[in-house]
Amino acid sequence: MLKMQNISKVYQTDSVQTHALRDFSLEVKEGEFIAVTGPSGSGKTTFLNMAGILEPFTSGHYSLDGIDVGGLSDNQRADLRNQKIGFIFQGFNLIPDLSLFENVEVPLRYRGVPAKERKKRIEECLEQVGLASRAKHLPQQLSGGQQQRVAIARALAGKPRFLLADEPTGNLDTLMARQVMELLEEINRNGATIVMVTHDPELARRAPRNIQVVDGQLADFTLYQGVPEASQPVVDTRIKAEV
Ligand SMILES: Nc1ncnc2c1ncn2[C@@H]1O[C@H](COP(=O)(O)OP(=O)(O)O)[C@@H](O)[C@H]1O
Ligand SMILES: [Mg+2]
Repeated sequence: MLKMQNISKVYQTDSVQTHALRDFSLEVKEGEFIAVTGPSGSGKTTFLNMAGILEPFTSGHYSLDGIDVGGLSDNQRADLRNQKIGFIFQGFNLIPDLSLFENVEVPLRYRGVPAKERKKRIEECLEQVGLASRAKHLPQQLSGGQQQRVAIARALAGKPRFLLADEPTGNLDTLMARQVMELLEEINRNGATIVMVTHDPELARRAPRNIQVVDGQLADFTLYQGVPEASQPVVDTRIKAEV
């Protein structure tokens, strides 16, 4: 579904060049749930921004569902992003003076979805995150965990096949973080591919595949179900044997 080959991203400020990603290569298959860890400043957010087509990359090759992202115009990039990708951020990014319903509605209006269809989708998505009864509330009337669930409903309303989450539980306590993780797991079971940056080792371990970004590159460290890729077939057998 996602294929990045030798992606580099250089941020140029007045006198400084920052190589936020260098020769970054990664393949993500449809239906995967990947946790991304790595030190602060290592390029995790930059990677999500590239994957989510929020910003252009400096060099390399990126294809999403077989579409060569590097070859698209700005409008085509925005269309592809709107069709396929949903974002969840650490800070929820809800609009404080809009109700939950209206918050989820914003991206749908932006996409020109007709009013009747908007209402149906918003109700379905608030239902899915367990907040249907709160549709008229304002974000400040909710806990942090609930606010993040609204942000997830907003991302889901666009029916993304690919969900990118940047430290979605970073502002939440352990219990709320687990609830958000459970919701993401359910969304993944329903078919969405998820890439989640997290600092939380417990949550990272729960994701079927773990990757690590160090110094703008993918570290030589990929775990599937907590074990290195190379020993995958052996471990599969063992897990089955234990069951
Ligand atoms: N818009 C930007 N302009 C300049 N430098 C940036 C910008 N965004 C990120 N960087 C730099 O790129 C590097 C990677 O940042 P980031 O992807 O945010 O790391 P992480 O999410 O892993 O903490 C850092 O050195 C950061 O300072
Ligand atoms: Mg970051």
